[in-house]
Amino acid sequence: MKKIIVLGGTGFVGTHLCEKLVSDGWEVTVPTRRRANADRLKHLPNLTVLELNVNDEVALTRAVAGQNALVNLVAILHGTQTSFERTHVALPRKIAKACLTHGVQQVVHVSALGADALQPEKLPSMYLRTKSEGEAVLLQAASGAGASGQAGFDLSILRPSVIFGANDKFINVFANLQKIFPVMPLAGASARFQPVWVEDVATAVVRCLAGASPAASPRIIEAVGPEVFTLKQLVQLSAKLAGIGGGFGRPVFGLPDWVARIQAKLMSLAPGEPVMSDDNLDSMKVDNVSSGQLPGLASLGISVSALQPIAQDYLNRK
Ligand SMILES: NC(=O)c1ccc[n+]([C@@H]2O[C@H](COP(=O)([O-])OP(=O)(O)OC[C@H]3O[C@@H](n4cnc5c(N)ncnc54)[C@H](OP(=O)(O)O)[C@@H]3O)[C@@H](O)[C@H]2O)c1
Repeated sequence: MKKIIVLGGTGFVGTHLCEKLVSDGWEVTVPTRRRANADRLKHLPNLTVLELNVNDEVALTRAVAGQNALVNLVAILHGTQTSFERTHVALPRKIAKACLTHGVQQVVHVSALGADALQPEKLPSMYLRTKSEGEAVLLQAASGAGASGQAGFDLSILRPSVIFGANDKFINVFANLQKIFPVMPLAGASARFQPVWVEDVATAVVRCLAGASPAASPRIIEAVGPEVFTLKQLVQLSAKLAGIGGGFGRPVFGLPDWVARIQAKLMSLAPGEPVMSDDNLDSMKVDNVSSGQLPGLASLGISVSALQPIAQDYLNRK
């Protein structure tokens, strides 16, 4: 049985992915900082949960020993320059080193649409710049360019647009906000996205591991769905699909950038995860849609699913 370690396996994409990996015959290890975070994985056969912090290089390297493959899903959406660097750049560096040390043959790294490993400095947000730097670290290690002439590893990088699914923190959040508020003042209303279904992203990871086309490593794949929406359209759609306001949704109006910045600053002062941070606003300065320059999920034989019927189903169930 081939062994795989899934960093970030307790999260939104990770839970879907682990189910697929187990049914594909992988022996799966999932590290987590808190064992309770892995409750939704407990029922899966051939899956071991390890309580450790993947940022601890010694613990990570020990966990990677004996694995045939590694998937990295660890990321943060909000934080400081230091925390973005630790999670999106330093962790990939530790992953690369551990994989080279222990001869892990395959790595799948889930990055983000808009990342550009060749020109990180040109990107508008800490999130996108550090995601790009993390890709660059892994691309270099995969090519076996280390000083000791190590062999490298097969690398797939997936760049998803916003991901939707029953437990997403996007469509669900906007629907829930509109259950509470009669109107929706919205930052970044005209930013464009190409939402992709979580099952399609998880399938893409499995297909990359199975060595699906495009054959050459490293492969960088844009994981996008079939349709482009502005953020305003997505917010309106989430309310309509959830049957809010008698199925008509709430009035949604875009905020000018300076008001959105004040709103983001105030949100960052409140406890818990902000819905929108200053850095998110920076990310939305560039559209989050396929560049058309790289292969998409069709190159892995995936026929991507549309948002509306799937979101309608899970929003109504809630
Ligand atoms: N969701 C989206 O819409 C979206 C869009 C584009 C790209 N992506 C990318 O897809 C990947 C998976 O996203 P997701 O939505 O599944 O993420 P998620 O639900 O937030 O899960 C990420 C997992 O990473 C671990 N983690 C988070 N911060 C960490 C830290 N500072 N140190 C160590 N571990 C940490 C957590 O595990 P424990 O708490 O159990 O340790 C968590 O379960 C990420 O690379 C993300 O950037 C997601």
